[in-house]
Amino acid sequence: MDERTPEQELEDFFGPRPVEPEPVGQLGIVVGGSLSEGLVVKLDRSTVIEGLAVGRYVVVRGQTGRRFFSIVTDVQLDALNPLIQKSPPDTRDPFLARVYAGTAVFGQLEISPMLVLDKDASEPKPVKTVPAHFTPVYPASEEEVALIFGEEEKEGFFHIGEPLEMEGTHVALDLERFVERSAGVFGKTGTGKTFLTRMLLAGLIKENVAVNLVFDMHNEYGWKGQTEARQEVKGLRQLFGGGEVSVFTLDEASSRRRGSKVDAVVRIGYDHIQPEDVDSLSSLMALSDVQVGSLYFLRRVLGRDWVARLLDESDPLTELDASLDRGTIHGGTLGAIQRKLGMFRRFDFLQERVSQDPVRQILDYLDRGRNVILEFGRYGNSLEAYILVANYITRRIHDHYVERTEAALGTREGEPRPLVITIEEAHKFLDPTIARHTIFGTIARELRKYNVTLFIVDQRPSGIDPEVMSQIGTRVTCLLDDEADIRAVFSGISGGATLRQVLARLDTQQQALILGHAVPMPVVVKTRTYGTEEFYAALGIQETESPDEMLERGRSLLSGSAEDTAGI
Ligand SMILES: Nc1ncnc2c1ncn2[C@@H]1O[C@H](COP(=O)(O)OP(=O)(O)OP(=O)(O)O)[C@@H](O)[C@H]1O
Ligand SMILES: [Mg+2]
Repeated sequence: MDERTPEQELEDFFGPRPVEPEPVGQLGIVVGGSLSEGLVVKLDRSTVIEGLAVGRYVVVRGQTGRRFFSIVTDVQLDALNPLIQKSPPDTRDPFLARVYAGTAVFGQLEISPMLVLDKDASEPKPVKTVPAHFTPVYPASEEEVALIFGEEEKEGFFHIGEPLEMEGTHVALDLERFVERSAGVFGKTGTGKTFLTRMLLAGLIKENVAVNLVFDMHNEYGWKGQTEARQEVKGLRQLFGGGEVSVFTLDEASSRRRGSKVDAVVRIGYDHIQPEDVDSLSSLMALSDVQVGSLYFLRRVLGRDWVARLLDESDPLTELDASLDRGTIHGGTLGAIQRKLGMFRRFDFLQERVSQDPVRQILDYLDRGRNVILEFGRYGNSLEAYILVANYITRRIHDHYVERTEAALGTREGEPRPLVITIEEAHKFLDPTIARHTIFGTIARELRKYNVTLFIVDQRPSGIDPEVMSQIGTRVTCLLDDEADIRAVFSGISGGATLRQVLARLDTQQQALILGHAVPMPVVVKTRTYGTEEFYAALGIQETESPDEMLERGRSLLSGSAEDTAGI
């Protein structure tokens, strides 16, 4: 009788081992944990703990060929005997060091399982259970990442970056889902929000999933942007050309100085301003409730020229005499309102009468599928101007979308194109005291009912009304270090808390954690670099300006007026 090896004896008992190609580089084994809190993985003695960072992808390979896709959420050192901390061994002796490492002392990972892929299944599903004790854990392979995020080639998907430590592997975002709900880009100042937003907008335009209206506070999206090293990068108008992207401006001189090709200049008539528009500024202007109430009264009594008349010091406002006598409106209130409205005089884009309705113009462009970027020029330095104009335009465009969507009665035909509205400094529009009664709060809350969603960019997500935050479907978050901001980004996302360390440890630039609706599971990416030749080429854009474009730009620089250069 021949000798059975221990391996064969095990096989006699348990049946043959499943033959599967052994993935290389086992990191360790699962030793504990739970679905809600994440799993604990004891690292093998050969695994270099310094090589593992939070945010990395790992795969737990279960007994039945099931794979659990997980994200590393913490890295720790542990020891069998806690006394070893008090009296560490003399590791100058290489023999002792080897004896201790991996047995008496060892590294541990905390990982959060997110998706599970059954053997032979093609679609990963949300995880509802955990792998057994001692299940081996491996780094995710390129194929595995591609399986989850690699749909770049499919229509409506856009390559946004690479997972940590996996150069050359692409993470693609599902843009159709991205615009299905409102979305946000968050992060401290200087972390790359604007660069990331510009890139996402380029994706939305390239994949044609929605038409965009961008309130470009700092003139970074339309014609050109700048890196910290003061290198110029192309804006969306340069990338896609005037047929797809048009630049509107509130400050023609500034736009021209920067070489922007301008399609239209926006002016707003005083007679079009409604009390609601001023109300949107109530906290910035420090308007009391009584003063806000009086705005509506003044509009009613003074008629459509109410703002111009209140600003005109020579106007006796005789219609108000009776009300002042009766005490319907207090003289002090009236004076305060007049003083506060005085701010409007600084805004040259506000004029007594205007010949063209800017809202109509913008809607015309949007209806033709042309994306509109509104540059604020020097008025971007005034939060009041930004909020006034963004509210003014958005309120009217939204009304129009509601009307048209209702008229189409869900038939799809006749429904307006899905519209995404991008705003910076979003917490100023959506703080809890105003989000309930201003247009941006309404749009965030009604989801996509009327084909309008928001794309908000903000460095202080804790300042946004929690109810609005809970409606933000996809959250792209660069580094945040304020505790309240981190909490706000994870609010309403199950298992979010386990990812806190991941977020707090991102690089200070060009790294982001993406959560929510547009990704199958949370992912940390090193974001694609915007502005390189490869990037332009990948968008199908030639690096140099064509002679036609040069001519077109020269012409627009020479021609004094911006209006109607669009048709060239
Ligand atoms: N994806 C990227 N590609 C190229 N450069 C980038 C990228 N992300 C960030 N950068 C660099 O980081 C700098 C800061 O990025 P950005 O202006 O987008 O920050 P921000 O978060 O919008 O800051 P702020 O809150 O002050 O507006 C850029 O000027 C650029 O040099
Ligand atoms: Mg910015």
